Amino acid sequence: MGSDTLTVIDNRTGRQYEIPIHDGAINAPDLRQIRVSEEDFGLVSYDPGFMNTAPCQSKITFIDGDQGILRYRGYPIEELAEKSTYLEVAYLILHGELPTKPQLDDWSYNVIHHSILHENIKKFIDGFHHDAHPMGMLVSTVGALSTFYTDAKHIFDAESRTKQTYRLVAKMPTIAGFAYRHSIGMPYAYPDNDLSYTGNFLNMLFKMTELKYQPHPVLERALDVLFILHADHEQNISTNVMRGVGSAHSDPYCAVAAAAAALYGPLHGGANEQVLKMLSEIGHKDKVPSFIQKVKAGDGRLMGFGHRVYKNYDPRAKIIKKVAYDVFELKGRNPLLDIALELERIALEDDYFIKRKLYPNVDFYSGLIYQSMGLQIDMFPVLFAIARTIGWIAHWEEMLLDPEQKMKIARPRQLYRGAEKRGYVPIEKRK
Ligand code: ACO
Repeated sequence: MGSDTLTVIDNRTGRQYEIPIHDGAINAPDLRQIRVSEEDFGLVSYDPGFMNTAPCQSKITFIDGDQGILRYRGYPIEELAEKSTYLEVAYLILHGELPTKPQLDDWSYNVIHHSILHENIKKFIDGFHHDAHPMGMLVSTVGALSTFYTDAKHIFDAESRTKQTYRLVAKMPTIAGFAYRHSIGMPYAYPDNDLSYTGNFLNMLFKMTELKYQPHPVLERALDVLFILHADHEQNISTNVMRGVGSAHSDPYCAVAAAAAALYGPLHGGANEQVLKMLSEIGHKDKVPSFIQKVKAGDGRLMGFGHRVYKNYDPRAKIIKKVAYDVFELKGRNPLLDIALELERIALEDDYFIKRKLYPNVDFYSGLIYQSMGLQIDMFPVLFAIARTIGWIAHWEEMLLDPEQKMKIARPRQLYRGAEKRGYVPIEKRK
């Protein structure tokens, strides 16, 4: 067995370089020594879309995309979805270990007791247009929390970070609930501390005139499992944004707002919304073959299919499919399910999808569940954002405590392809 190095010969100069390999990676700055002259900046790696770049080390989430494996802090997602709760998983993701009973009690108490929003936030939400997208309301409102909690800027103070973590995990569902009620013209429902994290969220969405809202245990559990499945997913675009904005030492409310804005995009967390639109547009399972033909011809994508990392069935999609049936048993079968099943069946047998290793991802079935629970489709990415908040915070904290990263602003290089130096042309001489 040879040494853990890479030998590079630069054919431009004939020079040879030994570059160390650690954990299957080379350090990109080691490429800088490869240059043709003293003035040369040195070799950089060009990687649009970060196809093969690891910007950090992390101990939070493990994914093997070829095998379809997902683990949080070493625990398989299947076991956590079956045996754990969202708040317990959130603790695990943040702290690295499953909590003891007193630790879980303390964590849950603190999260539950930070769920109320400042009354001025209500006025803020009142100001949005009646048909404002709830995700837009969430992004701007969570960013606005930065102006309420000015202590959040002390990002290297562990106590302050803990406080902001309680606030963010606790207040995201409240903001989401208020945004939802605003969009349907209902009075805001305040948090109820007697309920579980997801039970309380259902309360803030659906409470009507009853004195006490009682969530249905099947829906409460279904939402809890969905939140577990969405809690973290290593270096996806929104987490990358959280780390990127965090690297500028912005406060966590602004960084979460930026991460949530990335999540909003239809290629990321907005995909579940697009799946429902796509299924409604297809309209009937007989129309599935012609829709697949259109996709194969390059006219649009099969939303909820494909993943940058998974080249196998997304393990979360398997669990979600099971949860979907629990919810349908209670609420009735979602009529769009047959179209989804037919799409999946045909796509999984079709060469186009097989060759490109395109399988259903987490978003393919989650929207059907949310819709059956009575939620309007523009709320889907909001639910994703609530669950993912703990993942963003865990990565932010990991970055701030990593000696290799905490004082390094995320600042990539570019390959400049623009004009060479030229002189200013007065307006009357321009063509
Ligand atoms: N439908 C049809 N074709 C697809 C799809 C799809 N959903 N996804 C990828 N392809 C095709 C591409 O056209 C490309 O084909 P080509 O090689 O002939 O050009 C090939 O598969 C590779 O696609 P890329 O875009 O290079 O793959 P990438 O890893 O960059 O994209 C992504 C991953 C963005 C998720 C993509 O699969 C997609 O757009 N899916 C639909 C949106 C979606 O469901 N997003 C949610 C992802 S999960 C999440 O973020 C929570």
